[in-house]
Amino acid sequence: MNATFRDYIELLRAHDELLDIRKPVDLRDVAALTAQSDRALLFENPVGYSFPVASGLLQKRERLGLALDAPYPEIHQRFQQAMSHSIEPVLVEDAPVKEVMQQGDDVDLFQLPVPIFSTLDGAPMITAAVVISEDPEYGMNAGVYRLMLKERNVTGIDIVTPNNLRKFAERALAEKRPLPISMSIGVHPRELMGALFKASLGTNEMGFAGGLGGRPVELTPGVTGPVPFIAGAEFVLEGEIPPEGWVHPEGPFGEFSRLVGGTHRNPNVRVKSVLHRRDPIYYALHMPWENLWMSAPIYEAAAWRVMAETGVRVTAINVTPGGCCHWHIVAAIEKSPGDGKNAIAALLSIADIKYVVVTDSDIDIFDPQEVEWAIATRVQADRDTVILSNARSKPLDPSIPPSTHGVPTTAKMGIDATIPENVPRYRYNRIIYHNQGRVTLDDYLGESPAAPRPAVAGDDDMERLAARALAMLEEKRLTFSELLDAFPDSAFATVMALVGRLNERKRITLDEEGKYMPAEDA
Ligand SMILES: Cc1cc2nc3c(=O)[nH]c(=O)nc-3n(C[C@H](O)[C@H](O)[C@H](O)COP(=O)(O)O)c2cc1C
Repeated sequence: MNATFRDYIELLRAHDELLDIRKPVDLRDVAALTAQSDRALLFENPVGYSFPVASGLLQKRERLGLALDAPYPEIHQRFQQAMSHSIEPVLVEDAPVKEVMQQGDDVDLFQLPVPIFSTLDGAPMITAAVVISEDPEYGMNAGVYRLMLKERNVTGIDIVTPNNLRKFAERALAEKRPLPISMSIGVHPRELMGALFKASLGTNEMGFAGGLGGRPVELTPGVTGPVPFIAGAEFVLEGEIPPEGWVHPEGPFGEFSRLVGGTHRNPNVRVKSVLHRRDPIYYALHMPWENLWMSAPIYEAAAWRVMAETGVRVTAINVTPGGCCHWHIVAAIEKSPGDGKNAIAALLSIADIKYVVVTDSDIDIFDPQEVEWAIATRVQADRDTVILSNARSKPLDPSIPPSTHGVPTTAKMGIDATIPENVPRYRYNRIIYHNQGRVTLDDYLGESPAAPRPAVAGDDDMERLAARALAMLEEKRLTFSELLDAFPDSAFATVMALVGRLNERKRITLDEEGKYMPAEDA
């Protein structure tokens, strides 16, 4: 069997990234305790419940690296490979999650230890369910959608955003048929990440999860419904979205945006069975950072992919935490004329991305100060910004004006912070200190004797040196710094004085790049 959720918990324990809490805990404390812990938490004794609760497993981004056996900054590459070498899931009969099952009237979702997160949440929400659905035309789809506890066998499901599950549910609603779904809770982060990817309609994201692990995800046939689920999950709910439409109030909830979303109208889910392992661990995925750290590499993978189509040479891509790992991309490129704008056009085409900055490759795009510096020094707003109106949006963006009809759209903006073509390159010369890299502070500290320094030249020598400098400048224009290097045996004061002498006699002048040249050439 593939590595499972509990294998991942053991991996965290082995790396001292997991803290076991043995004292009884009230579920109302779980979120606040998880937020203050630098380790993932396993609450072994939630008061009033029979199952332990794990939370904060992916609260630190390095822990995602552990799960996928790759340093966090390289995960997007792993995901790209998984996209181009996806491995379709297989059906297996051996499914530990089928060890215990309640169905029909025995279903009682209130036995699940689902904690409350933020003070404004409408109710406890299941946050880590990989929801699998099937459409007669498009086949299998997987995604993660939160499920708000409502009744013993009813949850809400948040499919306000225009994603593929929403499409499946709309199609089922149009035909007045329920949409069967399965919800696997407590799966390996690889399976969560696969589901999280917004693939095009008709692509089964469990294939990406397989690609990530190098082996197919093992699904097992549904018991009370037609939709399979993840065989190694801790819990599974089987149920359906009745053909009622977006009519039930759902939310608010502390969202990936780090804000509390509003109350939405959403469909409900009618749960027909609850399956679990004999000793299951409930996973309370903690919002927002567990969601965010998984999201950035996925958008980065998508960004590398669209850029590959453009022919623009990209050197780095950063989906920033400040943009909630969903909305903002900064990309560095080796620019040919026009590439900045092409890169913006490509990156803004990615669903959800609403703000793009493209810089040259000399900018460290993982340092926000460098990016701001590029914007400050390379951008003219009327020339270098691109604004698109009425693009597809993530409706959870609170800056979008309320829509009176349908799903709201968004404006998107790109900033081309590459060095413009029509500006002389020397304007972008960075400060390099004279003798940078050639002297160290150590040379001037401690007991070692000071290096011998040449004496300042006398008047005769100065005349001779000034004549030599002038002859050099007749050959080639030189900066002051280059003149210093041209007279290594002369004191700094000598070089300053000889340049001053030539200035006073109006024999030399500066060109526009700051190089000295004979005055008669000017
Ligand atoms: C923890 C977590 C919770 C999520 N909750 C929701 C949600 O409630 N509603 C939603 O539309 N997307 C949610 N997402 C994002 C979707 O899973 C993601 O957009 C996915 O690609 C949608 O898949 P689909 O286009 O195949 O339907 C969540 C993601 C994570 C990681």
